[in-house]
Amino acid sequence: MTEAILLVGGKGTRLRPLTVNTPKPMVPAAGVPFLTHQLARAKAAGVDHIVLATSYLAEVFEPYFGDGSRLGLHLEYVTEVEPLGTGGAIRNVASHLRSGPDDPVLIFNGDILTGLDIPALVHEHESTGADVSLHLSRVEDPRAYGLVPTDATGRVTAFLEKPQTPEEIVTDQINAGAYVFRRSVIDTIPTGRPVSVERETFPDLLSSGAHLQGMVDSTYWLDLGTPQAFVRGSADLVLGRAPSPAVPGRCGERLVLDSAVVAPDAKLTEGTVVGARARVGEGARVSGSTLLDGAVVEPGAVITDSLIGRGATIGARTVVTGAVIGDGAHVGADNELQAGVRIWCDATLPPASVRFSSDQ
Ligand code: GDD
Ligand code: MG
Repeated sequence: MTEAILLVGGKGTRLRPLTVNTPKPMVPAAGVPFLTHQLARAKAAGVDHIVLATSYLAEVFEPYFGDGSRLGLHLEYVTEVEPLGTGGAIRNVASHLRSGPDDPVLIFNGDILTGLDIPALVHEHESTGADVSLHLSRVEDPRAYGLVPTDATGRVTAFLEKPQTPEEIVTDQINAGAYVFRRSVIDTIPTGRPVSVERETFPDLLSSGAHLQGMVDSTYWLDLGTPQAFVRGSADLVLGRAPSPAVPGRCGERLVLDSAVVAPDAKLTEGTVVGARARVGEGARVSGSTLLDGAVVEPGAVITDSLIGRGATIGARTVVTGAVIGDGAHVGADNELQAGVRIWCDATLPPASVRFSSDQ
């Protein structure tokens, strides 16, 4: 059996206002807090003990997941007084690990949706004798990630976090946010101060001659750090494009939680989720979107690729495309919201007050 550390302490700044009341890993995707999918996938891969490294809104994780027995896991929670960064968070939970010095320990960023073959990454780590092994993915625009060039044998040659200049873009391989560390390597990370595993630990290990191994694959991979990515990820889980044993129901065009009420002629497509106690009125069309618990979509509204927060209301005939509506916000009838607009939690938009086209 393997153990794992989950990094779930980030502020989720790019997801605001979704993360005003809820830390990013607890925002529901396909009907359950996103973290559930990662935990269930780790469990399915044979992981039995997971330590959650928490910081921002740390208090909400344990009441929901408890000791993990519902998922067949043993979960522990370690909260940083001040955020310690990714490397500092890993070091800070080391005393909770049970592995021996040479054993593999899995580490996951808490916002990645992926089909990664976890046992294959552990196998790559053990067969190459690496100190650290990293899952790598290929993306079109790598600038928002950690760039990880490798040699012909897959050995990592450099680690360039969030490159600033064109000369630094030396590869399309990026750090996909899942690692295997030899346990003893974790103990070499400095204690008591913030450390970035990407900006400090990986470059330091490389310059000291450590063996970092990359495993590139072409499986599903998405960082859910932005609203558009989060909505996409949730829809892909519902559609079955992204694999998870934790989707509560059959995969298909839509996922409607039990206590939701949907008018018979409303159209729900493209992986739309209707949360608990949410309501969708007559003639409404919702496509590729997530309605969180208690959200209300009034008759004739059209919602596409958007996330509607807990208890938020979308008025009749309002058109919402590529938008985020915060918890408890009230968007009146006959508005037109588009293109990355973020309506803050509890805000009120009067009827017919925002448009992107003529009203006549
Ligand atoms: N406990 C704790 N404490 N967790 C933290 C902290 C902290 O101070 N800071 C960040 N985290 C957690 C976040 O919650 C998230 O799960 C993970 O660490 C990564 O942080 P992000 O803020 O999502 O980083 P990123 O997306 O910009 O970049 C990272 O992920 C990319 C892949 O998606 C880096 O690891 C990149 O190298 C990588 O390519
Ligand atoms: Mg991220």
